[in-house]
Amino acid sequence: MAKGQKLNPTQIAPAKGKLGILVVGLGAVATTFIAGVEAVRKGIGEPIGSLTQIGTIRLGKRTDKRTPFIKDFVPLAELKDIVFGGWDIFTDSAYESAMNAAVLEKDLLRKLKPFLDKIKPMPAVFDHKYVKLISGPNVKKGKNKADLVEQVRKDIRDFKKKNNCSRLVMIWCGSTESFQKPGKVHASLEAFEKGLKDSDPNIAPSQIYAYAALQECVPYANGAPNLTVDLPFMQELSKKNNAPIAGKDFKTGQTLMKTILAPGFKARMLGLSGWFSTNILGNRDGEVLEDPGSFKTKEESKLSVLDEILQPKLYPNLYGDIFHKVRINYYPPRGDNKEGWDNIDIFGWLGYPMQIKVDFLCRDSILAAPLALDIVLFLDLAARTEELKNIGIQEWMSFYFKSPMVAKGLYPEHDLFIQSMKLKNTLRHIAGEELITHLGLEYYD
Ligand SMILES: NC(=O)c1ccc[n+]([C@@H]2O[C@H](COP(=O)([O-])OP(=O)(O)OC[C@H]3O[C@@H](n4cnc5c(N)ncnc54)[C@H](O)[C@@H]3O)[C@@H](O)[C@H]2O)c1
Repeated sequence: MAKGQKLNPTQIAPAKGKLGILVVGLGAVATTFIAGVEAVRKGIGEPIGSLTQIGTIRLGKRTDKRTPFIKDFVPLAELKDIVFGGWDIFTDSAYESAMNAAVLEKDLLRKLKPFLDKIKPMPAVFDHKYVKLISGPNVKKGKNKADLVEQVRKDIRDFKKKNNCSRLVMIWCGSTESFQKPGKVHASLEAFEKGLKDSDPNIAPSQIYAYAALQECVPYANGAPNLTVDLPFMQELSKKNNAPIAGKDFKTGQTLMKTILAPGFKARMLGLSGWFSTNILGNRDGEVLEDPGSFKTKEESKLSVLDEILQPKLYPNLYGDIFHKVRINYYPPRGDNKEGWDNIDIFGWLGYPMQIKVDFLCRDSILAAPLALDIVLFLDLAARTEELKNIGIQEWMSFYFKSPMVAKGLYPEHDLFIQSMKLKNTLRHIAGEELITHLGLEYYD
């Protein structure tokens, strides 16, 4: 193909007008994300960790020397066009909540105060049954769950109108809900809608927000491991209303490390006998995860990763007998600055054992904030892209999630490097550029 020649690009509507980002849960991640965007807009911070802001994409051959920034390659919303809103069970403004979360320095937050103080959470849909260890005053009341849906839908419409937005995206940055398997009420859209009228106890708050968003044709991202948009009827609704979905559970910290290291062991055919991960963290997320129900949701999300990367069925001698343990310990003195330890027992040539220790002194919300930004910008792009807007799950965004959503019958791709290739090839594909296979034989003709 001649240099710069386009294949068959899909139609992508331009990112005209304002993009409203509706955040469920204005806690540590959300306020670090929002404050960070404003700091970047004011020129007092750098969007490090965000592919959409600083990442590039290679196009064509290595000799073509075409490597634009992703934001110049596909039509993403610009930061100046973003407005924020959200819901929380506490009445704290984004400024007060960010001060409480104590992720960002107080000096920086004071500089952003006029902006952050104006972001006041709308009353939340909350049910103690799903998040046991916190309670707050800013909660909606309704005659049944269908009424709560209507209230959230009105919030969405009012926000859009008031802020003169042309598009919206909703992202869940709320607490992790208790572990839940789909029940009868989730079997179909009809069953769910009846359940809303009957206030069925098996309908969790996140399902009310997501259903309201999808009904309003607003894309929805799931930053926690909640069941929400895994439900088939939600996926159907997403397709029908051209409101793409992505999830679930931001891939930060220990799981990020796991999906960087494990593919390396597998690529080199090194065996693994055990992986013990433990960490201490002291933010509200850590507190919520003290509850066994919420922890189970998180544990499921963290444990599946190794199996799916290492494929023990294909390599029983290397990965057929792994002891994998994940612990989270609430330890207030550290706040959001988590420390995660991994002890990894591997084995090599003739079965000789070796050990790797990882001590990651990370900052949870600092790692999560750029993911939230990329996710909302890419979901908005998907909603404007003919070929992506009506397919529901955006698997190409697996890169950002601990438990990537995939079509029924597929296993998720957890390997960070495959995920990165998938994401970039999707961008090349929609823009009509050749996919990059890394074959490279043509350089030796
Ligand atoms: N920080 C990370 O690296 C990371 C990684 C993966 C997933 N997550 C997930 O992201 C979510 C947010 O994390 P965080 O550290 O900001 O937690 P956080 O506790 O600081 O914030 C969560 C906020 O959600 C609010 N909330 C709870 N239920 C709500 C509801 N029904 N409606 C509206 N608001 C509600 C809480 O009041 C709180 O302010 C958690 O579910 C966490 O598990 C975080």
